[in-house]
Amino acid sequence: MPAPRRRIAIDGPAGTGKSTLARTLARRLGGAYLDTGAMYRVATLQVLRAGIDPEDSAAVIAATADLPLEIGTDAGAECVLLGGEDVSEEIRTARVTADVSAVSAVPEVRENLVRLQRRLASDGGTVVLEGRDIGTVVLPDAEVKIYLTASPEVRARRRTDQDLAAGRAADYDEVLAAVIERDRKDSTRAASPLRPAADAVVIDTSDLTLDEVLDRLVALAEGTHASH
Ligand code: DC
Repeated sequence: MPAPRRRIAIDGPAGTGKSTLARTLARRLGGAYLDTGAMYRVATLQVLRAGIDPEDSAAVIAATADLPLEIGTDAGAECVLLGGEDVSEEIRTARVTADVSAVSAVPEVRENLVRLQRRLASDGGTVVLEGRDIGTVVLPDAEVKIYLTASPEVRARRRTDQDLAAGRAADYDEVLAAVIERDRKDSTRAASPLRPAADAVVIDTSDLTLDEVLDRLVALAEGTHASH
């Protein structure tokens, strides 16, 4: 008998601990993990490499229509390839981060990537998908839906520390301004704005440690083994 399907949607803005939590949860549950933000970052990198203005929707659509994107779903060993080249590091640069909101606001870009996300999530067993619109658009019938949030200040502090730890230059005030601006763009865009699904469990992580949040996620995931 195939393993029961358990699709776990984890949405929320950057800096909530979402990536670390989603990856750790997937490993803990022995499931697959898909970072959908990485896919929008790859599309953005493709646009930038082609020398296209990210605000030029028609050019963005043309440049990303047949995106040669490959993404692994092994939690902890994810690999993101663009045309066979490992771009896992390059998609995290400030340049890509600054333009990803514009590229991910284009409905045709989203349609292409959502199709791929649904395909990657359809293998059965446990899969954790992390993003902005997983519970609302990608998998509206996911067995578990979680929305992580935290204050902009806490998120900017976490992102700054993360960048510094990874050897990337980061200034708290600049990061805070960027966090607020990206939130505004992500939650006011017409296509799939960032918002919790009506049936998502919302967790504010501002005053919680990663372990505390993880315990809650594991409890939520283990409470549901629905097989649709
Ligand atoms: O999670 P992240 O910071 O790597 O995401 C990068 C960008 O991609 C973010 O600004 C919003 C966008 N995104 C999206 O629109 N939909 C998703 N499912 C995931 C990310």
